[in-house]
Amino acid sequence: MTSYETVKYFNAEQYEFDRYRGAVRNFQRAEYSLMLSLNLMNVTQNMCFTIGLMASCFLAAFQISIGQRDVGQFVALLTYMAQLQGPLNFFGTFYRTIQSSMINSERMLELFKEQPTVLDRPNVERLPSCQGDIRFSDVKFSYDPRKPALNGIDFHCAPGTTTALVGESGGGKSTVFRLLFRFYNIGGGSIQIDGHDVEDITIDSLRRHIGVVPQDTVLFNETIMYNLRYAKPEAADEEVYEACRAASIHDKILDFPDGYESRVGERGLKLSGGEKQRVAIARTILKDPRIILLDEATAALDTETEQHIQTALDKLSQGRTSLVIAHRLSTVTTADQILVLHAGKVAECGTHEELLALNGRYTNMWRKQIRAQRAAEHAKAATDRLTQVRDEAGGDESASQSEDERNAGGNQRGRPLSNSGLQTSTTRFRDDMPLGHP
Ligand SMILES: Nc1ncnc2c1ncn2[C@@H]1O[C@H](COP(=O)(O)OP(=O)(O)OP(=O)(O)O)[C@@H](O)[C@H]1O
Ligand SMILES: [Mg+2]
Repeated sequence: MTSYETVKYFNAEQYEFDRYRGAVRNFQRAEYSLMLSLNLMNVTQNMCFTIGLMASCFLAAFQISIGQRDVGQFVALLTYMAQLQGPLNFFGTFYRTIQSSMINSERMLELFKEQPTVLDRPNVERLPSCQGDIRFSDVKFSYDPRKPALNGIDFHCAPGTTTALVGESGGGKSTVFRLLFRFYNIGGGSIQIDGHDVEDITIDSLRRHIGVVPQDTVLFNETIMYNLRYAKPEAADEEVYEACRAASIHDKILDFPDGYESRVGERGLKLSGGEKQRVAIARTILKDPRIILLDEATAALDTETEQHIQTALDKLSQGRTSLVIAHRLSTVTTADQILVLHAGKVAECGTHEELLALNGRYTNMWRKQIRAQRAAEHAKAATDRLTQVRDEAGGDESASQSEDERNAGGNQRGRPLSNSGLQTSTTRFRDDMPLGHP
């Protein structure tokens, strides 16, 4: 049911109907053979019992007729037989129960056979407190041996600093987070927190110090309050509200018909992408960890909300070590260091200004982004002006006439009003334009 939108997008109702019909047919076939075997067993059982009863009755009647036994014994035989029938029927139902229990336990045993790959080593210590010093030394990792995801990553985050990870999609940015959170064991090198190898401390204590805002937030099909409290079950209501205010979601939640008691649907289906992301930020604020990992935390938000959240995140990351993944470079220009990941390696590393001076990959990405951003700004300005003039033209025909005349006369201000003018403004940017903040 969770993927129903995909079914509708691709008009695949008929295909899904057929798949469902096939599944029902298979079920009916299996049910038919089950019922057949059960009924066969019942019939055989009843037949055996009735034949046995008949035979013993005939034998008893014969023995009474020749005077070998008296009638009382015949009555006793019938009573015993009647008492025996109940337990025998019970064995039939017992067989059925055993059969269905065997099927369930088979599934359970399949689960037990799965061995977790990430486990605490014997006798490892807890990490009672954490300063937030992170060091990756020559970390290698692959999900599939045929295709390495990380090819020897090296970096160091000092306590309380912000490190941004940028780079192409599929470059391994989220993988760095997953390894730090110990979802997987690394294939080579080491990851250290406060000088301790992450494999030498318990997974539980490590995860307590790390808060994650994932790329795609998954919520439980419960109330918003339940999902928020998941980070800290003992939190008071006011504490939860405070975290939501910091994540700019409190007022939005109060606007919902059931407020904090609104149910979010399967995997958070009833919330918009931006709302889900802010719930994730709020619960990370509630968890209050030393290290925060933000994977595209503001990707699904409009510019204004993003600014609010950026302020909240800046506040949240004060005194904490944060690792931020961002595709929009303008959100990470103030980071203490920026790592450019390429082909599973750190291709460039430094502050925004240092990387621009390098004139490498980062500069390229930055140039493309500000060009797109400026073009968008110019296009917006042109469209705004066009709308404004159209409004004026609607109110005053003659005013529009004179404006057009002025445009025809080569007025610079009027040029972007036409469609061709708008295009010129978006294509005017060249690679040799000066760099800087957009
Ligand atoms: N669970 C997984 N199993 C197998 N391969 C995976 C898995 N998760 C990611 N990968 C592969 O590992 C590589 C790195 O993935 P990762 O999610 O770290 O990329 P990313 O840099 O975060 O990309 P994006 O910016 O698109 O989120 C990709 O090529 C991806 O296909
Ligand atoms: Mg990712």
